Amino acid sequence: MTGRFITFEGGDGAGKSTQIRRLAERLGEAGKSVVTTREPGGTPLAESIRNVILSGGARGFGAEGEALLFGAARADHVEKLIRPALLAGQWVLSDRFLDSTHVYQGLAGGVDETLLAALDRVTVGRTRPDLTVILDLPAELGLQRLAARQSAAGTAPDRFEGDALSLHQARRQAFLDIAAREPERCAVVDASRPEDGVADEIWRVVSARLLHPPRRPATRAGG
Ligand code: TYD
Repeated sequence: MTGRFITFEGGDGAGKSTQIRRLAERLGEAGKSVVTTREPGGTPLAESIRNVILSGGARGFGAEGEALLFGAARADHVEKLIRPALLAGQWVLSDRFLDSTHVYQGLAGGVDETLLAALDRVTVGRTRPDLTVILDLPAELGLQRLAARQSAAGTAPDRFEGDALSLHQARRQAFLDIAAREPERCAVVDASRPEDGVADEIWRVVSARLLHPPRRPATRAGG
């Protein structure tokens, strides 16, 4: 029996970590064993790569070099945390995964898709999400939320958060394009609404697609 793998994606300030926490609570109440994690990160090695990238220390490698670093972190994360948890029957909820690389380094960052697809095969193999929740909101609103959160916490924008508004807008569109290409895997959720409404909609999606999926019609013998 293998577990289920759900990834959360979206622009900066969309509220992914809050929604992951809320979904984890609900799944726990439903009797599931849940592991929450994040990218870049999730294992000690990947967390150390996270610090290098998000501080801007790897900017000199260019978008392609950064993609390779995200990939190195991801390979460790998949091998040491995600795959063992799924094999043990746990539900894994990850704050970002493959799609972030395709959006930030690929579609909006200029790294060739063929290279990224090859990197995916090496780093994650067949460990792909069963469901990807894309938290969607206008880039301006995401940045406002982020600024409010950071001024309360006294922290500064990271390597990607400080980018120009037009780049944040391109990323939003890139996530929506992925969702349109892969509707069976992805669900776009309007994250501009109050937190409770977003959490309820995510729960509906998870219930319908993973907890109580409709039965496929039985194939008739013969004919
Ligand atoms: P984020 O989840 O926003 O971390 P935090 O909540 O601490 O800000 O992710 C970190 C940043 O890294 C985010 O701006 C997106 C970026 N990123 C990529 O560019 N490529 C990737 O493959 C991943 C996983 C993240």
